[in-house]
Amino acid sequence: MRRLQPEEGLAFVRSVRIPFLDPFHGDRVQQLRDERAARTLETDRAWVAEADGRFVANACIASLDLTLPAAPGQEAPVVAFAGVSAVGVHPTHRRRGLLRQLMARMLDDARSRGEPFAGLLASESVIYGRFGFGHATTAQELTIDRRDAAFLGPVPELDLRIVSGPGEAREILPSLFDRQRRRRAGEPSRSAQAWDHALEESAEHRDGAMGLMHAVCAEGYVSYRVHEGRVMSGERDRAVVEELRGLTPEVEAALWRYVFDVDLVGEVTARRRPVDEPLRWRLADPRRLRVTSVDDRLWVRILDVPAALEARGYRRAGRVVLEVVPPRDALDGRADGAPGRWVLDAGPDGASCRAARRGEDADVRLGVADLGSLYLGGFSAFELAAGGRVEELRPGGLDAADALMAAAPKPLTGTGF
Ligand SMILES: CC(C)(COP(=O)(O)OP(=O)(O)OC[C@H]1O[C@@H](n2cnc3c(N)ncnc32)[C@H](O)[C@@H]1OP(=O)(O)O)[C@@H](O)C(=O)NCCC(=O)NCCS
Repeated sequence: MRRLQPEEGLAFVRSVRIPFLDPFHGDRVQQLRDERAARTLETDRAWVAEADGRFVANACIASLDLTLPAAPGQEAPVVAFAGVSAVGVHPTHRRRGLLRQLMARMLDDARSRGEPFAGLLASESVIYGRFGFGHATTAQELTIDRRDAAFLGPVPELDLRIVSGPGEAREILPSLFDRQRRRRAGEPSRSAQAWDHALEESAEHRDGAMGLMHAVCAEGYVSYRVHEGRVMSGERDRAVVEELRGLTPEVEAALWRYVFDVDLVGEVTARRRPVDEPLRWRLADPRRLRVTSVDDRLWVRILDVPAALEARGYRRAGRVVLEVVPPRDALDGRADGAPGRWVLDAGPDGASCRAARRGEDADVRLGVADLGSLYLGGFSAFELAAGGRVEELRPGGLDAADALMAAAPKPLTGTGF
């Protein structure tokens, strides 16, 4: 196992395809996509295992930053983190510890760069808990027939215009996205490659749908595609909202109104919406808004407890002592800074976190992964305790943890990496 060499980017990208069962077959779209991925790959943060001159395992880190929970009335902090990606072991070399070795190298690398945590999106939820990654953010898919989408009250008029075609969208959307992502924790920065991917219009990407349309104004945008129905036989089109982002809840409501007023469309499905989606409260008949799937999104691995906890904002003042126990998989005995007993003193004006002194007893005991689940406020200590994950060591310990760690609104990760 070794770090990638700078000239090996394309070979790395081709290797990544194998475990995801999508081998390179010479197609031009694949070729362009691979070249793009290779160009943006941070080759000094990519690792491979080699056997007989071929890559058989791969993983890399994207240097990203993440929006963290904000203190009331303040802009959300944005902090660098290690975006673990492209993890795969070829089917010929599974279950002999290559993932474990890759993970050990990646987490060492992140620690050495001072990144307080790592994050990833998991293909299977069984894989990463053992290494200390905790499920931190959740997204839901929502579906409603637009005839059932009457609102209880008015929403503001927006000065919207339609942008279609990736060129103009590429110029306008990124800066709006960057402003909007400060409104809700859990959103990673979007690399140039992620934007290219989001706006890509290949047939494969469209999956039978029509082109991506964007309705844009100064305070937000909605990006959607329409799957054509057989209109003459009474089957109406279906709109799939890929993104809907407003700088305020009122703007988001008005963007929803816009989507619900698009003619010819029957059902509207919105992907990757927050679990506390405010739309439900605006609907005259909220039951019509169906949750059609719920997905775990970001998994967080805390690497440096004081740095991670001091970086985020807190809504209320309080103190909690956390006893953080090591993850099941200690990664070949490497030094792990996360386990220990930690005192967090925090409030809207800032936070301090340090190792506990003798006599400072813990309020709650939890795993590194569970701290990752609490970190962005996506889950409460109370619910993790009910699930057998967090243990209350002193009466009131769970409340103390929740009073500090809660976040509003709930975190969401719309961006993949
Ligand atoms: C998931 C994957 C990377 C695991 O690689 P691997 O080299 O076989 O994993 P390791 O041998 O290092 O396994 C480490 C531990 O995790 C367990 N594990 C690994 N993958 C697992 C899985 N999919 N389900 C359950 N347990 C798994 C192993 O059993 C092992 O634990 P053990 O020593 O207690 O038995 C590999 O199977 C793969 O590439 N899958 C397809 C692509 C993918 O899903 N990638 C993840 C993208 S987020």
